Amino acid sequence: MNKELDRFFKKQEELGIMLTYDDVRLRSEHSNVLPADTDPKSRLSKNIALNFPVVSAAMDTVTTASTAIAMAEFGGIGILHRGLSVERQAEEAARVKHYLNGLIPDPITVSPDETVAAVLAKREAKGWRFRSFPVVTAKGEFVGLITGHDFDFITDGDIKVKDAMTPLARLVTAKPKTTLEQAAALMKQHRQKVIPLVDGKKLAGVYVRADLERIMSGKGNHNVDRNGRLRVGAAVGVGDGALLRAAELSKVGCDVFHIDTAHGDSKNVFSTIKELKKKYPKIDVIAGNVSSGDGALRLAKAGADGVLVGQGPGSICTTRIVAGIGVPQVSAVYECAKALRGTGVPVIADGGIRNSGDIVIALSVGASAVMLGKLLAGTEEAPGETRLINGVQYKVYRGMGSLEAMLQNPSSLERYRVSAKKFVPEGVVSTVPYQGTLRAVLEQYAGGIRQGMGYIGAATLDELRKKARLFRMTGAGLNESHPHDVLISHLPPNYSGK
Ligand code: IMP
Repeated sequence: MNKELDRFFKKQEELGIMLTYDDVRLRSEHSNVLPADTDPKSRLSKNIALNFPVVSAAMDTVTTASTAIAMAEFGGIGILHRGLSVERQAEEAARVKHYLNGLIPDPITVSPDETVAAVLAKREAKGWRFRSFPVVTAKGEFVGLITGHDFDFITDGDIKVKDAMTPLARLVTAKPKTTLEQAAALMKQHRQKVIPLVDGKKLAGVYVRADLERIMSGKGNHNVDRNGRLRVGAAVGVGDGALLRAAELSKVGCDVFHIDTAHGDSKNVFSTIKELKKKYPKIDVIAGNVSSGDGALRLAKAGADGVLVGQGPGSICTTRIVAGIGVPQVSAVYECAKALRGTGVPVIADGGIRNSGDIVIALSVGASAVMLGKLLAGTEEAPGETRLINGVQYKVYRGMGSLEAMLQNPSSLERYRVSAKKFVPEGVVSTVPYQGTLRAVLEQYAGGIRQGMGYIGAATLDELRKKARLFRMTGAGLNESHPHDVLISHLPPNYSGK
């Protein structure tokens, strides 16, 4: 609850005014909170936590596995787009889930009768970075482990693996359901860098120390599931298509389904949420998009674990121009978050964010996370094609409802409810400047969020929502806010101009 904000928006509503980011700014408050002491932990949905409140958009020029990995490593999450076949999308999800191998359920094994030279040659040819291999016989029996330590002390490559390995009898092993923490404790106690999990005579997976250290040190604030694997979401759309995608995605451990439609307040979306929740009660479903409080509440009542808010604010979006529909985003986010108070269902503010200040505003008026398209499309990891224009590198960023995306992806037709015979686009194709790595870009946004929280004296996002006070900007005020009356000679990494 924030009475000041409620009063502010009520007044605007009485005047029939809906506001967006450039219409408002936040007041600075008395503060003893330093930016470095703030903690922007949040939630994507009822059961999915975020260490950083940013989500990458389910768009074919924004999120495939590379983006999703970098997002989860930074504490956020990526939502894989669905402009790919069901199988390819599940493969992308599997790439994210296997990236940080907390537990390697199906490790690459070698045979006891291979020579050490043959194993090393195979490692070189396949480009494997690891040097620990469980040793398994042709009958599938786990008999030992050969590790980097063994390889380092072998001078004769013709020696057989069975003569160079540490045999099972001398290994510390554990039972199949051993947790990450238990495995780490065993490693420490027995000074063994790999803990094989053994089920009878069979290998049931391995834990490797280097991976566990990376996960447990919390380096990069990784957003991980219970098994220490990076979290990932995937767009599934509606109806039978959604069920097909969900079936494959659930097999590879996808953490959250995103019902991505242009009009979330509709029967089709509600019934898809219900079916997904019935079939996969342990996988969260986020759904949208809506821009009214009533719509958000109806989605929550249908079972959505998170609601996406935004109709028309996207940088590549023409919905408001083509269909005349949509609510300026700050008012939409506030209204939806207000309607969902007490339900435990978070709001994700989707689209229209142009800088880190906008993120702070979205979080202040009730969003638990923001979904970004344009701001991430120029990064190294984004899948958009790179183009050189006048010697400067750009990447293609396009709306999923653009003509080009619709021609390429049948799923875009469904999202924008367009007939396959008549394409009426609701988006454009654009180019955005190349920006370097996603991590470098997110570091700037994280800094901006923390600075905003520091000015307001909010150590957490809950405090931010309670303390934030908004005011209207005039055109002159906005002009004054941007650099003015100077010729900018160097743009900083967190400002791209008006
Ligand atoms: P941005 O961060 O302002 O670039 O907005 C990204 C958001 O725009 C996405 O997460 C989608 O919700 C939305 N979007 C993506 N493609 C289209 C489109 O073609 N038309 C309308 N909205 C779109």
